[in-house]
Order: sequence, then structure tokens, then C-alpha cells
Amino acid sequence: MLEIRRLYKEIHGSPILEDIHFRIEDGESLAIVGESGSGKSTLAQLIMALKQPTSGHIFFDGRPLPNKGILSYREWYRDIQIVFQNTGSTLNPSLSLFQCLEEPLINFTRYNRAERKHKVLEYWGKVGLNENLLRNRPGKLSGGQYQRACLAKALLTRPKLLICDEMVSNLDVLLQQQMIELLISIQKEQGLTLLFITHDLTLLPGLCSNIMVLKEGKQVELFSTSALYDEAERDPYTVTLLNSSKMFETAWNQLT
Ligand SMILES: Nc1ncnc2c1ncn2[C@@H]1O[C@H](COP(=O)(O)OP(=O)(O)O)[C@@H](O)[C@H]1O
Ligand SMILES: [Mg+2]
Repeated sequence: MLEIRRLYKEIHGSPILEDIHFRIEDGESLAIVGESGSGKSTLAQLIMALKQPTSGHIFFDGRPLPNKGILSYREWYRDIQIVFQNTGSTLNPSLSLFQCLEEPLINFTRYNRAERKHKVLEYWGKVGLNENLLRNRPGKLSGGQYQRACLAKALLTRPKLLICDEMVSNLDVLLQQQMIELLISIQKEQGLTLLFITHDLTLLPGLCSNIMVLKEGKQVELFSTSALYDEAERDPYTVTLLNSSKMFETAWNQLT
């Protein structure tokens, strides 16, 4: 279970996140939604211990965020993994895809070579990629394939919590839908806890049980996804975000 309490982050004296507080129970999925610059990635980086909070607390399974000692980081990263927006920088471009995926197994498990190969093939298949691709370098992959490879790499060591930061934002609508369906099936199969970060509210029904809306670093509201279209109940800012996502979707459908 992930728990965030009274979390504040300042960068160069400016508040980036203010009084963030939420929990995600095991196996649940929470979406963090907000416009560009609202602090979503900063929140993800704090949970990944890539940045330290100015004040406040982050707990996973009752353990506090590590701030010193390499051992505590190792445990944290075995439990929590992240997939970013496709920037092409997650997978080492000079290694083969097989080597890229084998890396976390070498770092985090005691599997021998044969066991590692077996695991890589298992997860490569799970995300729907062809075995022949494993000999190639990451640069050979299309955008959609690259995101699937990153997902396989993140899931190989069986993390408990997966953070997806704008994971599907660079993909076209059809590939977005396929990726979301893949996430839903993996989440069901592995009982994964999910923190799904996006600016697009229309992606969420079916994937996330709850939604937290972030505006300029502040938590606007947290509600059940089933109440997303209940406009009378929603904060006006959430309705504005939803309408802009819907407008984009309609424009895209007319184009294609
Ligand atoms: N290293 C940094 N130095 C200065 N400002 C930063 C830094 N990282 C993030 N910010 C600022 O924090 C705010 C939130 O950024 P970010 O978390 O990336 O938002 P989002 O992911 O929602 O687009 C932005 O105004 C951004 O300019
Ligand atoms: Mg971001």
C-alpha cells in the first residue's frame, strides 16, 4: 500500500507540490490527472526517490521513502517501478533488447542465465512482442513497441506498484487503447497496484478505480472513476479538463 501524507516540494523556492495526501491500497489503481506543469512528474519522481520531499511523508507497505543507504533503495526499486513517456532514453541504445531486459534480473534477482532467458521471453510474450525482435537494438522499435518493451522491463522483477507517467501520451489513439487493454489484463493477472499519470481523462474508465486531479501543484479533488461524468458533483476544473479531453478525442476521430 502506498501512502502519501502532507507532501510538499519546493524547487528553487517555488512551491511545485502542496499538501498532497492520498493512499492506494494493494491491487487498486489511482489516476493522477492534470495539465502540463501541474506537478505530476515531480510527484512520480518523489515516489521513485529520485527527488527528496521538502516536507511530508511517503510510505510503501509501512516503510518510509529511502533517503540514505543503497540497500534501502534496492528494496524500494524491487517493489516500485516506473514507465515514462517514450523519450527513447529508458533502454540503453548500445545494448540488444535482450540485454536491456536481462539487466534488472541481474541486478535484482539470483536467477541463472537460463532462468533469466526464460523470464525475458515470458514477459516479452506477455506484452505481445515477437521473439525475433530481442536480437535488435532498441532503436529498431516503433513507438508502440518501445513502450511495450519498457513495460516488460518494468514488470520482469514483479514490482508491487507500477507508476506510468504519460506512458501512452505519444502513441496514436489505437495504440493507446491497445496499451491500456494490456495494462488492464496484466493488472488483473498479477494483482499489480497502479499509479497512472495522464493529462487525458477519457483514458481512465475501465483502467483506474479512482482519480486525483492536480492543478498547479494542489490537489483539486479525489473521486471514484464511476463519478467522472457526474458533472454536478465534480469540481468545475475537473469538468473543464474532461471537456478538453473529449474535444481532442472528437477532433481526432474526425481526422482519422
Ligand atoms: N528541476 C526543476 N527546476 C525548476 N523547475 C522545475 C524542475 N522540475 C520541475 N519544475 C517545475 O515544476 C512544475 C511541475 O513540473 P512537472 O512535475 O514536470 O509537471 P507535469 O509532469 O505535470 O507536466 C513546472 O512548473 C516545472 O517547470
Ligand atoms: Mg510530466
